[in-house]
Amino acid sequence: MASFCKKSMVLFLLAAISFLISCSNATGLKKFDHPTKGNGNLRFLVIGDWGRKGDYNQSAVALQMGRIGEELDIDFVVSTGDNFYDNGLTEEDDPNFLESFTNVYTAKSLQKQWYSVLGNHDYRGDAVAQLSPYLRKIDSRWICLRSFIINAEIAEIFLVDTTPFVKEYFVETEHTYDWRNVMPQKTYTENVLKDLENALSESTAKWKIVVGHHAIRSVGHHGDTNELVDRFLPILRAYEVDLYMNGHDHCLEHISDSESPIQFLTSGAGSKAWRGDVKSLNREGMNFFYDGQGFMSVQVTPTHVEIEFYDVFGNVLHKWSRSKQLLHTAI
Ligand SMILES: *[C@@H]1O[C@H](CO)[C@@H](O)[C@H](O)[C@H]1NC(C)=O
Repeated sequence: MASFCKKSMVLFLLAAISFLISCSNATGLKKFDHPTKGNGNLRFLVIGDWGRKGDYNQSAVALQMGRIGEELDIDFVVSTGDNFYDNGLTEEDDPNFLESFTNVYTAKSLQKQWYSVLGNHDYRGDAVAQLSPYLRKIDSRWICLRSFIINAEIAEIFLVDTTPFVKEYFVETEHTYDWRNVMPQKTYTENVLKDLENALSESTAKWKIVVGHHAIRSVGHHGDTNELVDRFLPILRAYEVDLYMNGHDHCLEHISDSESPIQFLTSGAGSKAWRGDVKSLNREGMNFFYDGQGFMSVQVTPTHVEIEFYDVFGNVLHKWSRSKQLLHTAI
């Protein structure tokens, strides 16, 4: 009896210790497991800067997303932020959530999980409300966190909250931002970077994809986000990230990094687009720029990744793919 107690005590202690170790190793980022459909392939759509109650072609884009989503049999949708215009949601029960999300993306193929980050416009409203799990009671597709991970087996997608990195928002006086749980900015952004770096260093996924609202590289209206070039890009290069995806500029674009295999992909054309608002297209690594509305698809297999951009009619505007042979990861 005594030895049984001793044994179970030891087992309990071992379990407690391994639990503590796994906790201390765990990153601060919540991880959602989204297994692929058993065939090892992953397909999803990426849309950004959209919530305008269907206006500015938002509904036309949504219709084509539904069609392409059906064709590709997508696993989920990723939103790059600026989900609700003009100023995010006012509260958890803001009708804008239904009018700009639930009632617009009605296609059958879009009744999947939507993984969203916040954009700067979302921070101009009640950012905490937009992050609230209560919204899932209204529409169960909605998952919006500040920074988190989707573990889709062959690919891991790291979604990061980029708005608090942009200094301009902390000094401009034209808008107010909901910085609850973000201040002090320095500590918050340092923790985001630490979490991202830890998560990337622990990732064994074949493909690593990072998503944020702001662009690292863009020739659109806002251009490069210097804070991200300084603080994100070195980490993405060090951990061999394959794709960086963002919105913010209301266009579709594809720029290749000059110093690494990273592809910079902007999908911020979910509704109002800024036609003609472009800096020089004569830029190193420039592959594609379109200043109308549309969206992007991503198809991943164990050896290939393929990107396609679509316009408001669902026409393919640009296509890019890369293959990566089995290196160190055993599949
Ligand atoms: C909707 O899309 C069409 C086709 O690209 C474009 O000509 C039109 O200007 C767009 N409308 C708005 C309001 O953006």
